[in-house]
Amino acid sequence: MVRQAHHDRILIAPSILSSDFGRINEEIKAIEPHCDLVHIDVMDGHFVPNLTFGAPVVAKMKCGRPMDVHLMIENPEKYIEDFASAISKAHGKKDDCYITVHQETCPHLHRTIQQIKNTGCKAAVAINPATPIYALEPVLADLDMVLCMTVNPGFGGQEFIESVLPKFKELRRRAPNLNLEVDGGINEKTVKLAVKAGANVIVAGSYIFGAKDRVKAIESLR
Ligand code: DX5
Ligand code: ZN
Repeated sequence: MVRQAHHDRILIAPSILSSDFGRINEEIKAIEPHCDLVHIDVMDGHFVPNLTFGAPVVAKMKCGRPMDVHLMIENPEKYIEDFASAISKAHGKKDDCYITVHQETCPHLHRTIQQIKNTGCKAAVAINPATPIYALEPVLADLDMVLCMTVNPGFGGQEFIESVLPKFKELRRRAPNLNLEVDGGINEKTVKLAVKAGANVIVAGSYIFGAKDRVKAIESLR
């Protein structure tokens, strides 16, 4: 009976990684009435083998929905305040927006989480497919969301790694009310596996932006 609760709050977060960066604000505008969060992938070419953009580009976005900024960067603590102020510029406020750092990049994870909270944003931590959830146990109570990657981060359009699914089950058991986000390889089939395991925040990039009818693609994930 406990397991049902999170199904009431499935949130869809399209990843703009697969959108047209040259028309980013039009792309956001077209999807935002239909989604709950807008997922922004920041990559540094070091932590992940790909580069996207930094805080100055985020600041120029126009985003009516809460933003979900996924930092796939080394030394994220150097840039957290910059991203928080970029979020304020893009969205008008930040208390409904998430900044996510990777556990693998944070030797002082507790301090980094407090740093995010001090900006007024919500704090989330991501783990790669090969990182166990136990790495988060001491900080679980401090978090607004945990992101379990279901691909190795860096690129859109990769295949969903099913062996990550037990992490959602275990996290849901330990923290029934925590937002659990899934990112990587989500489509109309894999979303079912993720939600059944306990995920309630659904990131999808290529599935949504590669679809002929993006609104229909978003609705098919609910
Ligand atoms: C991957 C990014 C994802 C990516 C997902 O490194 O973190 O957010 O955009 O893309 P799809 O949904 O195509 O796997
Ligand atoms: Zn992401």
